[in-house]
This record gives sequence, structure tokens and C-alpha cells, in this order.
Amino acid sequence: MGNARLEYEGKSYEFPVVEGSEHEKGVDIAALRSKSGLITLDPGYGNSGSCRSAITFIDGDKGILRYRGYPIEEIAQTARFTEVAYLLIYGERPTAQQYAKWKDDLTRHTLLHEDMKKFFEGYPPSAHPMAIMAAMMASLSSFYPGNEDDKNLDVNIVRLLAKSKTIAAFAYKKSIGQPFVYPQNNLSWPANFLRMMFAVPSETYQVDPVLEEALNLLLILHADHEQNCSTSTARMVTSSGANLFAALSAGVCALWGPRHGGANEEVLQMLGEIRANGGNCKSFIDKVKKKEEGVKLMGFGHRVYKNFDPRAKLLKAAADGIFAKLGIHDPLLGLAKELEETALKDSYFVERKLYPNVDFYSGIIYRAMGIPTNMFTVMFVLGRLPGWIAHCRELRLDPENRISRPRQIYTGPKVRKWEGSVG
Ligand code: CMC
Repeated sequence: MGNARLEYEGKSYEFPVVEGSEHEKGVDIAALRSKSGLITLDPGYGNSGSCRSAITFIDGDKGILRYRGYPIEEIAQTARFTEVAYLLIYGERPTAQQYAKWKDDLTRHTLLHEDMKKFFEGYPPSAHPMAIMAAMMASLSSFYPGNEDDKNLDVNIVRLLAKSKTIAAFAYKKSIGQPFVYPQNNLSWPANFLRMMFAVPSETYQVDPVLEEALNLLLILHADHEQNCSTSTARMVTSSGANLFAALSAGVCALWGPRHGGANEEVLQMLGEIRANGGNCKSFIDKVKKKEEGVKLMGFGHRVYKNFDPRAKLLKAAADGIFAKLGIHDPLLGLAKELEETALKDSYFVERKLYPNVDFYSGIIYRAMGIPTNMFTVMFVLGRLPGWIAHCRELRLDPENRISRPRQIYTGPKVRKWEGSVG
């Protein structure tokens, strides 16, 4: 592939250029410090590759997203979330036999240890379900301790995929004071979750196939997105040798923020405020452009996509159908479309290549499904589980796996003398 040359203080250093399977190129600077004494400085890692990965490919300029080589648009048409999870984690689609076993495993591990129910009792009803998710996922490790050799890792993968949705639904039930609904093994992964969310012991509950399909699509579209903030966090925790439960709990915490998965919750709040203020999109966009304190067009912009986020396109297209099938008219959907149109015509957004991202339409669909706003980021967690797991597993098997330990450029005081005590 050739070398890249760095000239510094009269000396020349050569570094190999590496190329990925889609021809994206990078300079391998692993020997930079030992050869030259220099490090790189790249706050926010906009130019730094942290690993080689064979899981997900994104071309942000062209708006391309592929899981293990399969275009997201094709996957979204016919796949089931559980099959996509297998593909992401193990690299290939399962055979019919492997898939039957996988689904069976994911069904049989859905129950939580009864003692875990006591944890939920301790939270105030106002507890944010993301706080509960993070704590419960780490707590699972106390019920399933022990080393994670290949076989145990596979069991822990199943446990996390199966039990997280039970935790999520229990967190919701706790917040509204309803009894926990236990999983039911004859249901699909999304249907089982919907039942645990919405059923009550005093009534029969039939899962609406429209909701099941909508959730299946949402989960698939969130399933992986290469080295984003939460995935990089989960990989970093894995690099220390910590267990999978700890790594995923850290991923949940990283996802929580409004710049990342927390944006879906913020989009709904933003739309609600615009509507309450008379629904004037233009005047809201003007505030965003003036960069007024705390005003951003949430659900817009992306570090990698400088074109339409393909997930947002798929969700926008699906939204009308889902609303029609559910017989719901939500004025916020029309408002979101108008806001998108206003922004996409505006030079501020055009020049900065800011387009709607996955969070722009997902919240409106969750709302139509009856999912409360504070559960939106938890829904993102459920979708992203296979991605986090796939990356943690990939790192464990990677011969280049070393503890993640960035360097820094120190800007604090130079050495000074400590004398006496102030007290
Ligand atoms: N509204 C208004 N201005 C924006 C926005 C936005 N949503 N996003 C970026 N900009 C501006 C930003 O102010 C900057 O302007 P200038 O050049 O004048 O300083 C320019 O666009 C470049 O933005 P940046 O902040 O340097 O870009 P970044 O790559 O560091 O941040 C981002 C990416 C997603 C954090 C950011 O676009 C953002 O905060 N968006 C809103 C939150 C959001 O929707 N997050 C969900 C991301 S997708 C799902 C996920 O991965 O979780």
C-alpha cells in the first residue's frame, strides 16, 4: 500500500498506509512515538481509527450503512432482529438449525433471578429508566460471575440479549406502579418485550402485529453503527479485561447523553416546545442558527454522515405506514417533516452538511407505539445490544487487543514546590 512520510526537525519518518476492504485508507502510526517521540492530538477522535473491525461499514459521504456487508435497506425489508443479532455477533447469517437454537436460547434466558426484583423496589418512581438499565446490567455479573472463556462468553451473550428487555420492561412497570409481567416463551423477541411493557395481570393482552413489526424494524436500524461513542466505550472497558456485563453497562451510560442516544428523547421535547409556541419552524431554526444557549436542532447532524442517514430515510418512509395502520394522527409527525424541510433548505444546514439522523423520526414512532418519552433511549439500548456485544467479542478475539490507553498533551502547571499545609 506504500508509506506516508512525516518530516519533523530535519528528520524523515515512514509509516505504513493500511487499506480496508472498502478501500478506505489510514496511516498506521503505532510506531510514531517510539520512532519520533511525537504523539498525535485528535480531540473527539475525528481522524483516529482505534481498531480494525469487520462488523459494520459506513460511508458517511454517500449515506451507506452495511452490517457484515449487507445493505441496511435490504436487511430492513425482511430480516428479524434476532437473525441480525446473530449475523452481527458471529459474522454470518445462521443456518436454519443454528437459528432455531439461537431463538430457543434467547427465549429460555429471559427470566431474571427473583432476587433482582428487590433492586427495583429501592428506586424512587421518578428514577430514569436509563439509570436502572445501567445498574441492572452491571448487576447481572453478580449473578453470573466466573470467567468468560469461549463457552461462558456465548452464554453471557445470550443472557444479556434475553434479559435486557425484561429489565427494560420492569423498569417501566416500576415507574408507573404496575406489577411486573413475566416473559412468555412462545412470543418473538419484540412481541415478548411489548407484552411485558403493556400487559396487566387483570386483562388478556394480544400483541398487535403492527407494533411488533414496527419494533422489529426500529431494533434492526439501531443494531450497530461501528465505532460510535457507546460502542467505543464498551470496547474500552473490554480492553481492560472486564466482563461483558460491565462493558455493556458502560455502553448504556455513554449512550444516555443528548449528543448520542439521548437525542431521541430531546427531539420529542423540542417538537413539543415548538408546537406549544405556535408551531413556527422558521423562528425555531433562526434560534438554532443564532446558537442561542442550549438550542440545537436535535436529531440533526452526525460525526460521520455528511449526507442523509440511511436509517432516518427508512424511518421517515416507515412512519406514515405505521401511523396509518395504527389509525393514529400525531401533529408532531407533520411538524417534524416541516422542520426537516425548513432546515434542509437553509444555508446554515446545507453548508455544514447537517441532515436528519436516526433519532429524528424514531421518537415519533415510539410515541405512536405508546412508549413514554423517558423510555426512548432504553429502546435504543435494546436495539444496540447486538452491536456492543459483537464489538466486545471481536476485540477479545483480536490479536492486536491491548488495553486502551490514550496519551495526552499536558497543559497544567510546571513543577512547583509543595510547602507546609493550609489548615
Ligand atoms: N443543530 C445546530 N447546529 C449543529 C447541529 C445541530 N443539531 N449539529 C452540528 N451543528 C453545527 C455545529 O454547531 C458546528 O457549527 P460551527 O462549524 O459553526 O461551529 C458544525 O455544525 C459542526 O458540528 P460539530 O458539533 O463539530 O459536529 P460533531 O461531529 O462534533 O457532532 C453531533 C455531531 C451528532 C454530536 C452533533 O451534530 C449534534 O449535537 N447533533 C444533535 C444531537 C443529535 O441528534 N445526536 C444524535 C446523533 S445520531 C444517533 C447516535 O449516534 O446516537
